Amino acid sequence: ALPRDLEGRHVVVSAGGTAEPLDPVRILGNRSSGRQGYALARVAAQRGARVTLVSGTTAALEPPAAVDVVGVRTTEDMRSAVLDAGKDADVVVMAAAVADFRAAAVADFKIKKTDSDPDAIRLTRNPDILREVVAEQVPGRLVVGFAAETGDADHDVLSFGRAKLERKGCDFLVVNAVGGRTGHNAFEGADNEGWLLGADGSSVQLPMGSKAALAARVWDAVAERLA
Ligand code: C5P
Repeated sequence: ALPRDLEGRHVVVSAGGTAEPLDPVRILGNRSSGRQGYALARVAAQRGARVTLVSGTTAALEPPAAVDVVGVRTTEDMRSAVLDAGKDADVVVMAAAVADFRAAAVADFKIKKTDSDPDAIRLTRNPDILREVVAEQVPGRLVVGFAAETGDADHDVLSFGRAKLERKGCDFLVVNAVGGRTGHNAFEGADNEGWLLGADGSSVQLPMGSKAALAARVWDAVAERLA
């Protein structure tokens, strides 16, 4: 039987990608399937948490049982949903792949290839939701980030991850090694691997396995810290 170590806790998990409109028919998006975030939400609910899953663009996934799903598409919508649900949360996990840029202005009409220069699409930087959540400094609330890093060796991925954890200021960071050494596609596959880094300097290797198994290891560490 699963531990009920998240009973009475509210956890917010973001999953999938964000999609930024360029015009009424086109988007800037990414290939995140949402599988890791959905697994985190499902496992948290099975362990007794009240779960809000802020779901961006994903593959066709079954919504997890007993989870509140808030569907979003743009980064701005994901930001509002995460900040809103995060107000009374014990844990916020940003597993989503957020678009770094969006169109500076969304065209009202379909951009025509004949009368527009490809360079005419101007982009602007999106807000960093994870950093905003951390900046709120809600006492007792834990914040978990994700990072996909490429590197030729474990120590590269670990040192990039450690630097990112410090830059973002989160309590935990899950680092997935993508491409490079393993060539493993953490985005679309059913399996995942990496490290769980803690702000206390800890690092736990997360062996290759199902996204549910990886989720369970993350919740083990989070539940221990909440206790
Ligand atoms: O900076 P980078 O995109 O590598 O950081 C990844 C982490 O930051 C993930 O947890 C992701 O959900 C979060 N993030 C965010 N808002 C952004 C970009 C990333 O919350 N605009």
